[in-house]
Parts: sequence; C-alpha cells; structure tokens
Amino acid sequence: MIRMSKILISIAWPYSNGTIHLGHVAGSLLPPDIFSRYNRLVGNEVLVVGGSDQYGTPITISAEKAGMTPEEYADKYHEINKKAIEDLEIEYSLYGKTHSPVHHEVVQDVFKRLLDKGYIYKSSTMQYYCPTCSRFLPDRYVEGVCPVCGAEATRSDQCDKCGTTFETGDLKDPYCTLCRNAPEVRPSEQFFLKLSAFNDQLLEFVSSHDNWRPNVKSFVANWLKDGLHDRAITRDMSWGVPIPVEGWDDKVIYVWFDAVTGYLSSSIAYSRKVGKPDLWKEFWMDPEVKTYYFIGKDNIPFHAIIWPAMLMGLGGMNLPYDIPANEYLMIHGGKLSKSRGGAIDVPSVLKQYDADLIRYYLSAIMPDTHDSEFSWDDFITKVNNDLVATLGNYYHRSLSFTRKNYGCVPGTDAPSGSPEVEEAIKAALSEWSEMLSGCDFKKALKAVMSLAQFGNRHFDSAKPWALVKEDKDACGKALYDELMIVKALAVMMWPFTPRASEKIWGFLGCEGSLESAGVAGVTAPLAPGTVLNEPVPVFKKIEVKKEEQKQEKKQAPQPAQQFEGPFAAFRKMDLRVGEVIAVDDHPDAEKLFVMKVDTGEEEPRQIVTNLKTVYSRDQMLGRKLLIISNLKNAKFRGVVSQGMLMAADDRDMGGDAVLLLKPSCDVPNGTVFNSGLQNGSSRIEVKNCEEVDIRVAKVVDGKFMGRPIELPEGAPEYVAAILDGDETLVLSDGKGCVMTVDSEIKDGAPVL
Ligand code: MF3
Ligand code: ZN
Repeated sequence: MIRMSKILISIAWPYSNGTIHLGHVAGSLLPPDIFSRYNRLVGNEVLVVGGSDQYGTPITISAEKAGMTPEEYADKYHEINKKAIEDLEIEYSLYGKTHSPVHHEVVQDVFKRLLDKGYIYKSSTMQYYCPTCSRFLPDRYVEGVCPVCGAEATRSDQCDKCGTTFETGDLKDPYCTLCRNAPEVRPSEQFFLKLSAFNDQLLEFVSSHDNWRPNVKSFVANWLKDGLHDRAITRDMSWGVPIPVEGWDDKVIYVWFDAVTGYLSSSIAYSRKVGKPDLWKEFWMDPEVKTYYFIGKDNIPFHAIIWPAMLMGLGGMNLPYDIPANEYLMIHGGKLSKSRGGAIDVPSVLKQYDADLIRYYLSAIMPDTHDSEFSWDDFITKVNNDLVATLGNYYHRSLSFTRKNYGCVPGTDAPSGSPEVEEAIKAALSEWSEMLSGCDFKKALKAVMSLAQFGNRHFDSAKPWALVKEDKDACGKALYDELMIVKALAVMMWPFTPRASEKIWGFLGCEGSLESAGVAGVTAPLAPGTVLNEPVPVFKKIEVKKEEQKQEKKQAPQPAQQFEGPFAAFRKMDLRVGEVIAVDDHPDAEKLFVMKVDTGEEEPRQIVTNLKTVYSRDQMLGRKLLIISNLKNAKFRGVVSQGMLMAADDRDMGGDAVLLLKPSCDVPNGTVFNSGLQNGSSRIEVKNCEEVDIRVAKVVDGKFMGRPIELPEGAPEYVAAILDGDETLVLSDGKGCVMTVDSEIKDGAPVL
C-alpha cells in the first residue's frame, strides 16, 4: 500500500506573450495534471503551482507593437491563458502571475537573502545600447558579422556557423534588430548570481539523481563540465520586478530569476489564500516531500542548475526531486510554435474539440523521450480508432446492454467477478501505477488502452446478445465482469480524460466522486442491484470530409514511359528518401503499420507496411528510408498505401535479417536515388519492380559480390546496388550519398 505523502508539482510558467498552443500543453502543462490526478487517486496531497510569466524584453516589444502597455498586454494574455488552461481541465492549486504584489514580495525577499549571504554581488559589464531605441539591447536583439568566420546576421552572443562565443563588442558591424541602426557599447553595473560557488554542490546533487530522464542528465552534465560562470541577474529596463536596493530604480531583476521564484511565490500566495500562511513550508522545507518540475527541454538549465543553486543559497529548502523535461512536439518537421495549416492555439482548438480528445491525443503522442510529430490526420485517426472505437465503444456497449437487460448491476448474492478478469484489471493497474509514478505517461495510457482491448475481446467472446436469451444468470455474470472493467477503465483514465471518466462513474451509479474513491475504486466490487443510469456515448467520432476522391484524381493515368538499354527496368522506378513522421496500427490488421512518411512533398504520404513484425514503432518513428514513390496506390485491408518501403531480406538465403535501406548521409526528404540515370515518373505496378535486381552486400576490396563497382568517397561498408547483366551500379543520389543498412546481412540479399 502506498503511504499518503505530500507532493509539490511545479509547472513551467508560459509567457504572457501570446496564446498558449498545443506545444505548451504537450510539453509542460498536461503532464503535471496527469501526474497530479494520479497522485490524488493514490491518496497523496498535492500542491500544484505555476502561472503566467509576464516579464522579459519580448513582451515589452510585443506590447509596443500592439499599442498597449506591457502590463495591459501581459494581463490580457494571462487571462486568456488562465481560462484556456481551466478549459483543458488542468487544475492548479493556484495559477499566479509574476506581475503581482505577492510575487514581487517573494522575489525581492529571495534576492535580499542571497545578497546578504554574499551569493549576489555587484559588478560592471559592457552592454549594447541602441541610441535610436533608447534601450539596452539583450543579446538576441543585436546582430552583425562574425569576426571569425564572416557569417552575416550572427547573434551577438554566439555564431551558429562556427560556434564561437562572443563578448559584448566582438561582433563586426553590429546593428539593432529593432531599428537596424548601429548600437553603442556602454558600461552598466549589474548584480550577479554567484553560480560558481555552487559548482561542487550541484555536481553532487545531479549525480545523486538517477531518476532523471537522460536528456536532463546529459544536458546538466555538459553545463557543469566546464565549471559554472556567474550570471547577471538584473537588466537595464523598467518592466520587471524592481531591485530591492536603493539607487537601482532604472533596472529590474532578470526575468528568469523572478520566474523560477514564482513556484515559491505561488505556494505562498496559495497558503495565504486558504488561511494557512505557513502551509507552503510543509511542501518546501520537509525533506520527505518530493518536488517535481514539469518543463519543456529549453528550460532545463534554469530548473536543473540555476533554481537549485538559488535554493542551495537560501538553505533549508527542498531541491528538485525530478525534472521531467519533455522534448518538442513537431509539426511538418518543425517545432510546433506557430500554426501552419490549422490553428493550434488552445482556445481555437477547444472551440472544435472537447478537452478530453485533446488530452487523449497529446498523451498518446507525448514527446517524453524524443520529439514527436503532431498532425490533424493522426489526431482524427487516433481519436476515432482508439478513443471512440475501442474505449468509448466498450464503455457504451457494456453499460447500455446491461442497463437495457438488467437495469442494475447484475447478480444477487455476494458479488464475484471471474478470476481472469480480476487478474487483467490488477495487471493493468500495476503497470499503470508503475508508469505514472515514474512520469511515463505514454506507457501508462497504453496499459489502460490494452485493458480496453481486453474488455472488447471479453465482451465479444461472451456474446451477451445471444447468452441473455439462453441463460440470463450466466449472462449477468459476464456483464458484471464488463462493468468491473468499465469501472477500472474509468478510474485509470481519469488522469487522461477526466470528463468522460466522471460521466462513466455516474452511469455506473457509484457513490461519491470518482476522485474520492481513488485507486481503490479500480478493484472495489460493484454492489449487485445498484441502479444503472442511462448512458450516452462519452466520445463522439470525428466526421471527416471525403478527401479520397480528390486523391484519386491526382493520379490520372499517364502514358507509360519507355526506357531502353542497361537498367531499363530500374529506370521506370522513382525512388525517394522519406522520413517516418507518424506510425499507427492498422485498424483491422494486426501485422500492419499505417505510417505517414514525409517525402518532401506538400502532404506526407500514407504508407502501409508489414514490417511491423521487424521494426517497432519507436524504431520506425523518425527513420529515414527509401520508398518507391511512383507505384499505383494499393489498398491493404481497406487502407490506402501511397508507396512501398525498400528493404533487404536475406531469409531466402538462409539468413534472418530484414533491413530497411537508409541513406548513408543526411539528405533532405524527397532526394531522388536514381544512380545518375534518368528515371520514370509515370505510375508503375509492383510487378514492374520485380524485374529490377537490387542487392545489398558488403564491399570487399572494392568489389560488390565479386563484381567491380564504383563508389563515392566515404561510402559505408554495406551498400545497395543495381545489377543488370554484367553491369553493377551503386544506388546513389549522384552526389556522394548511397543507400546502406543498419547491420549485417548476407551478401547479395535482394531488396524488395
Ligand atoms: N516562460 C518560460 C518559457 O515559456 C518558462 C518559465 S518557467 C519558470 O519558456 F519557472 F521559470 F517560470
Ligand atoms: Zn534600435
């Protein structure tokens, strides 16, 4: 049994510099809510804090452009984002904002205490100042020519081309990015945080946290490796928390110093609000309490180094126990920051879709260990196939059939479910618990969805629609099992889809709230005779306009191209590099994946593959591969495939390898691998490809399967080549990139 404990859940503060979008939700807002709900279910007491990050130069510039004061601007987006977060059912103990009296008070107090202890000190710096804009310019607002490599439009802190880092004044021909005029370099006094004093303590702190995700650990290790430099924590501007030292009215505290302190100020504000002004101390100073910081990966240094250093400086404060930093949610291969093709800001999305659907999809593709790809197509597929057709359908068929035929929880005597169902529920519960307590949200969701699949199979094999006519008691027993599964699903899905779960709880006629029943509610028996309430489907299928016809038209038949001479058959094929950006199970075929592959065209291609038995979803995702891109579309169990993957297979030669071809260098998606030959563009059929002989082999002494072959410089050991009679031609893009495989395979393995 898990002992009840206190947990502090800190959520990264979104900037009030615009409306939050799905990237914020998947990255840092939703995971802590799932985690908090999980902890509430197991009986832990949570304090969930965060709010709007309202300071910093970018906000002052946006405000200026909008013709508003920074305060008006930042408050406008605070309200919009606060509401959006509430509408997503993401629950905070207190959602604060940095432009507020409590926050100022707490930040200034922290500043003064660190100053008194000597961890904050004054020093003079040189800074860019734009006389035209009358402002000091942060690094990113000054660009110029790199003095080392000559790259233009280089930022004033570092050159992206050659990696050189600069001091103020190093850049040649600097200009202010706001007005394009030349800035001056002016001396300016600032306060510094003495990070160097914490280097050893931080090293020890970091190495004592084996639970951290690898991305966090390696990032921090890199930072600490070269020793920490002290950092300026004040800025020449007026928008920010005032410096609590006399004579410093023209400067403010640096936005990151104040923002991370927000976790503390929100905790204090909440404690005062509920009339227990010292409550926060129970979460911040009791070393038994675990504190979590949910952030996106770009926030790692501030949470894993700077904030811990500040806490060490204050003394007596809990250091972060875990910092589950997510990677990015990508759209069309770029970080999901602005909408390209369909609004992704939360208020717009919520106008169209229920919060549960968004929460479900973002949980299913959460970028927890690597970047993940967002697409509306995939959203619709996952919602329709998994949430609606698997989970929602199971909820509804079980509840409505039972209610129609029994009106209540069936059974008369002491309730008893079948052991096999009890087992399945317990197994799902333990997996779910283990995954959620370790912040592995995607896997936890998978465990619940597998139970839903189990439920559907159980229902199908019990055939209650027939059984009810033959043996009403036996049927009642089976349905009792279904209702137990339904209840277990509802509780375990609550962190992901709270609204639907609470409705199901209500249909079951369960007493009290789902939350108060907690995890015990997963396995607790249902009381026979409990009246069932009339259920309605909790998830609705998303209807889509028929796009298919449009696609058919694009493929109007073209006259087949004729090629003659060597490699004629090969020249009918159009082979292109693609990148797997989404992988889904085929709705009707266990052994097939339905993937989205970016081939550099306007729309990604949908490709169905049977390599599911060879490559896992994770191995597929993000993979670069070679596809035959001019095949006539084919259907696999009703799902259209717009191309075929090329893989070498030595199983007919007594081997056991099936390996996808992949480019030996980083080439853009859509790169054609034609080996320097002119290739066809008209649609062909699979049988046309069968005449082509492509093999993979290890090149030994410049020979491929004993045949002479010309290779570009730096070619890998294993390459793919086309054979025609005596001729051998390495498969290449004509610019030095060839096709290769990940591991060993028998010489001459055919590519199909
Ligand atoms: N506003 C920052 C961002 O969006 C996050 C700040 S987290 C805090 O990247 F803890 F520092 F507030
Ligand atoms: Zn300027």
